[in-house]
Amino acid sequence: MLAATLALGAALAGTALAGPSPFTSVGPLDLFKRISSGCSTSGPASCHNTTKQTDLCCFESPGGLLLQTQFWDTDPSTGPANSWTIHGLWPDNCDGTFTENCDSSRDYTDIAGLLTDQGASDTLSYMQEFWVDINGQNEQFWEHEWSTHGTCYSTLKPSCLPSGSPKGAEAVAFFQIVVKLFKTLPTYDWLSAAGITPSSSKTFTLSTLTSALKDASGVTPALNCDGSNLNSIEWYFNVKGSLLDGTFVPIDAPSKGSCSSSGIKYPPKSGASTTISKTSTATTHKSTTTKTTTTTTSGGSSPTGSPLPSKGTIHASSTGGLISAGTWSTQTLATYTFSGTTSSFTLSSSKGSCGVSSGKFSCGSDVSASTFSAVSSGSDLLLAFGGSTAFSADDTPSGSTQETVYTGSSHSETFTLSIVSS
Ligand SMILES: *[C@@H]1O[C@H](CO)[C@@H](O)[C@H](O)[C@H]1NC(C)=O
Repeated sequence: MLAATLALGAALAGTALAGPSPFTSVGPLDLFKRISSGCSTSGPASCHNTTKQTDLCCFESPGGLLLQTQFWDTDPSTGPANSWTIHGLWPDNCDGTFTENCDSSRDYTDIAGLLTDQGASDTLSYMQEFWVDINGQNEQFWEHEWSTHGTCYSTLKPSCLPSGSPKGAEAVAFFQIVVKLFKTLPTYDWLSAAGITPSSSKTFTLSTLTSALKDASGVTPALNCDGSNLNSIEWYFNVKGSLLDGTFVPIDAPSKGSCSSSGIKYPPKSGASTTISKTSTATTHKSTTTKTTTTTTSGGSSPTGSPLPSKGTIHASSTGGLISAGTWSTQTLATYTFSGTTSSFTLSSSKGSCGVSSGKFSCGSDVSASTFSAVSSGSDLLLAFGGSTAFSADDTPSGSTQETVYTGSSHSETFTLSIVSS
């Protein structure tokens, strides 16, 4: 994890980006438990070489401008009410032109079966929730994304994989990579942390939306609209080394998307039902990260079930819970005071009010209070921010260590927080 973080830091240092990167590292330690490319990540990023690169298993070319595309579909609604969904990961050429359908001999069918057979059912479950087709044709959608775009990656050619890799292993890797990258790009949470949540009446300017996303991510994405409705987003990257286990370098979108400069609507996913995300075991090779059950309330519905206690402790789903500064620890948990109702409340510890700033949860005398809600999940009462019960940290605490808690699932250890009356 540390090496991966440093690798991304180094990658960012070479760009014009300022400030610490909130991107979760997507480096070699994280990405692949199954396939390692043997490529170095210390060479030039894709589209940044000054000499001709000869080993295209270790240098993505010609499609070195990567776009992680996401949808915000509201008509009909697809996916969880508090998350954008995956469209794909596209390899544009460095000048923005692109090729598609690069190898029909690898147009695999039964992607679900392929993932299951090759031990990636965790990725498949995640896709069934977050990589969904607007007409419910997920399998066709996945096949299309693979055959149209996935077959064009030079570093994912079967000849670049270790010998003896099963047929389709590069497609399995592709879906794992896209899911892993998408988890580092929580568009909904980033907008929500800036107070931008779906509304059927409000309108936003493009600069409000892009600056909120740039503040959170460090880079400017491209936003596309369907009429005046925000409908999709493109997050851009170059990559150092192989897509299999390389370092993704976030970059600004080379041009703006199709949204006009003002009057942009961000409609709620009104039809979206309450969502339980699947348990997924992240593809780390060292530690097993469990994405815990996350309950989402759909647009404005009021949670029912356990009432909000006036005092209680806050327990993390995996281990430990929150201490008085709002950090995650396995030491004695702090007692929190709650004021309000499950649909809207503030909380404080002996240190002071608790709030979320730039996606970071903390409590203290200089912290301005944020509004939270609580959602019943079985017998648990889960803390939610911006409608999402997902929280994450860079590492799991042990002994006397404390970890910063972030809203959303953009950091590597994802968990929920349950409120226990005391
Ligand atoms: C970068 O490498 C690719 C692949 O070998 C090559 O096509 C391209 O011309 C190179 N760019 C430069 C500026 O040398």
